[in-house]
Amino acid sequence: MDKAKLKHIAIIMDGNGRWAQCRSHERIWGHIRGSKIVSNIVEEADDLGVQALTLYAFSTENWSRPLGEVTVLFKLLKKFLLKERSRILKNNIQFKVMGDTSKLPEKTKSLIKDLEEESNSNTGLKLTFAFGYGGRDEIVQAANNFIKENPGKELTEELLQSYLLMPHLGDVDLMIRTGGDQRISNFLLWQSAYAELYFTETKWPDFTRVEFRKIVEFVSKRERRFGNVCSSDLQTSKLMAVENKEIITNL
Ligand code: FPP
Repeated sequence: MDKAKLKHIAIIMDGNGRWAQCRSHERIWGHIRGSKIVSNIVEEADDLGVQALTLYAFSTENWSRPLGEVTVLFKLLKKFLLKERSRILKNNIQFKVMGDTSKLPEKTKSLIKDLEEESNSNTGLKLTFAFGYGGRDEIVQAANNFIKENPGKELTEELLQSYLLMPHLGDVDLMIRTGGDQRISNFLLWQSAYAELYFTETKWPDFTRVEFRKIVEFVSKRERRFGNVCSSDLQTSKLMAVENKEIITNL
């Protein structure tokens, strides 16, 4: 598999708090440092020819964090929008936020709306921030919206997919989680059914373009079978069709 086949990459940017605590700083220091890494990884994804990059910036569960920490995350989002706007537009990136942004300050909401509109027709990397996002919530909302619009009609996988928040992004090919934990924490549950998973011990503020590229190159070499057998086994099984038939008949 060549790396261009990893069309949609999702990242759980974890480990900010522990990164700061290891250095005897407050957890928010880790988020501040972590926010500076985001644009490097966006740039690298763009250079690698990735089509979509979805970043987990704030989960529905993160609402239970101390107010000070939540406020810092809000401010970092605003800072990112102000600082990266021109670069996003210059690099033909299409920017979107998915999730419940209703509790964000009005100014941040309008910055998001403006950048989404300005970058909407861009044809390069699709950069999406999951903010106030939860995978289960997204699936429940999709099902409810479908039922409301199609009373009595049966739901299919394709129809549910079309009611997700960002149907155009398609399935996730690779999900990376930094920070050493090995779980997907309610991120893109539907879209990751066949995603390759990669967990790195590196905490998000230490994550580099070089490590990101190495992961993409490493995972690109994995064979993805999507529930099928590998291609060489398929060839062999065709050659052995007669023998297989005999085995099945005698079962
Ligand atoms: C997890 O670290 C990270 C988050 C909850 C938020 C991710 C946010 C950023 C990378 C910065 C925000 C940037 C923008 C542009 C919005 P954690 O606090 O759970 O770390 P821990 O597992 O060490 O406690």
